[in-house]
Parts: sequence; structure tokens; C-alpha cells
Amino acid sequence: MIKLTDVSKQFKDKRQLVKAIDYVSLDVKEGHVVGLIGENGAGKTTLLRMLCTLIRPDEGEITVNGKDIFEQQESYRSSLGVLFGAETGLYNRLTARENLEYFASLYNMSNHDTKNRIDMLAKRFGMRKYLDRRVEGFSKGMKQKVAISRTLIHNPSIVLFDEPTTGLDITSSNVFREFIFQLKEEGKTIIFSTHMMDEVEQLCDDLIMMHKGQVVYEGELETLFANENSRDLNYLFTSKIVRGDLYV
Ligand SMILES: Nc1ncnc2c1ncn2[C@@H]1O[C@H](COP(=O)(O)OP(=O)(O)OP(=O)(O)O)[C@@H](O)[C@H]1O
Ligand SMILES: [Mg+2]
Repeated sequence: MIKLTDVSKQFKDKRQLVKAIDYVSLDVKEGHVVGLIGENGAGKTTLLRMLCTLIRPDEGEITVNGKDIFEQQESYRSSLGVLFGAETGLYNRLTARENLEYFASLYNMSNHDTKNRIDMLAKRFGMRKYLDRRVEGFSKGMKQKVAISRTLIHNPSIVLFDEPTTGLDITSSNVFREFIFQLKEEGKTIIFSTHMMDEVEQLCDDLIMMHKGQVVYEGELETLFANENSRDLNYLFTSKIVRGDLYV
């Protein structure tokens, strides 16, 4: 469904060229949950930023259902839900409902659809009690639920998250996990980066392992476990990154 072909991206950093993405080719299947892992600086955020058309590759092509994402940016973006980091991007002075209404208006949603969608999300995430309170007094977990709802307000088919649980406590992380299961049931395609191996083990169908801008493993998690005769992703990650001896 989402296909990257020989995608590269360089940045100039203090007159030095950094290869953030180094000829990456990938295929993400519709309805799959994909975990994106790699050390700091491996290129995860850069990859996700390209996938949501925030930056263009220097070389290569990114297509969704065979169409270049930059050539159909507007319609592609309306099918995307994006959440970067634990930053919620919410307006503290507005209530949760007003925040969601605002984001719905950015997608030109009708009042009727907006109301129905907010009702549904509030029910699903248990937000009804505080839907009409200002966000400024919310706990991190409450804010996260609103932020996730914001990401989903327009019912996107592809959802991208960059380290969605970094800095969150166990309860809030569990909210995220529960939410991934629900999205998966709805058949959405989900890609998220994380440093938490147990998150990948629990939630993902597929794995993309990156190292220094290159993909060192792409495929089903179960296939990796079977080939390596181990289900310890932490160990498998370390053996690939540190010793480079993973069978792929
Ligand atoms: N705007 C930029 N300008 C200069 N260099 C950049 C820029 N964005 C990314 N880079 C560089 O590209 C490389 C990949 O960075 P990226 O943020 O994609 O890594 P990451 O895998 O998301 O790391 P982390 O786990 O720390 O979030 C790094 O060397 C980084 O310094
Ligand atoms: Mg990053």
C-alpha cells in the first residue's frame, strides 16, 4: 500500500552533510501495524516526516496505492492521521471539545459529522466527563487521549506516530496500546516509531529496523523470531546493530 523506492534524504549540519535516509526501499501493507525502531539518529523521524509530506526526499519515490504522495498531497493528507512525539499540539485555553471542533474544521468536516465523531471518540476513550473542560488543567494522560482523538477526528486510513509514548506513565502508555488495538480492528494502517521493544512485541505485525539511515530489517515480526530462534527483540536488535550478524 505504502511503497518507498530508493528514498534518500540528506541534511546540511554545520557544513557537514548528514545522510539521514540512505536509499531506503520499503513496502507497508494495508491494515498492518508497523513498528519503526532504531538508535537515536537512525532516521525514524525523518522517514515519518517524509511519509506525511512535511519534507521531500532528495531522491526516490514514495507512493500510496501506486500514486506519488507529493503529486496528490491534498487528498493524501486528508487520509492521514499524524501525531509527533508526546507533544499534543492542543490549545490549553480551549476545552477538549473545542479543540476537536477546531481540528475538524481544518478538514472541512460538517457540524453534524463533527458532533457524531466527537461523541464516538469521547465514548471510546472515556473522555465524556471532561470534554467541556479547558485542556490546561488536564493530566498528561487526559491530554494524550484528546491528542489521539484529534489525530483521528477525520477518520484517517493511515496513522503515523513518532514516539507516541515517550515520557508517558504506564497508564497513559496503556491508553495508547489499547487504542492501537482498536485502530487495528478498524483496518487502519499504522506506523509508529518507538524505543520500547515490548510495545513492538505486543502491538506490531511488522517491523522496520533502521540503522544509520538504512533499513537493516523489514518484514514480519514472527518471521524474524522464527528465523532467529528467539522472541527477544531487545537481544535481536542489539545483535543486528552491535554485531551486525542478524540473519535476514
Ligand atoms: N533538520 C535537520 N537538519 C540537520 N540534520 C538533521 C535534521 N533532521 C534530522 N537530521 C539528522 O538526520 C539524522 C536522522 O535524524 P532523525 O531525527 O530522523 O533520527 P531518529 O531516528 O528520529 O532519532 P531519535 O531516536 O533520536 O528520535 C540525524 O543525524 C540528525 O541529526
Ligand atoms: Mg526521532
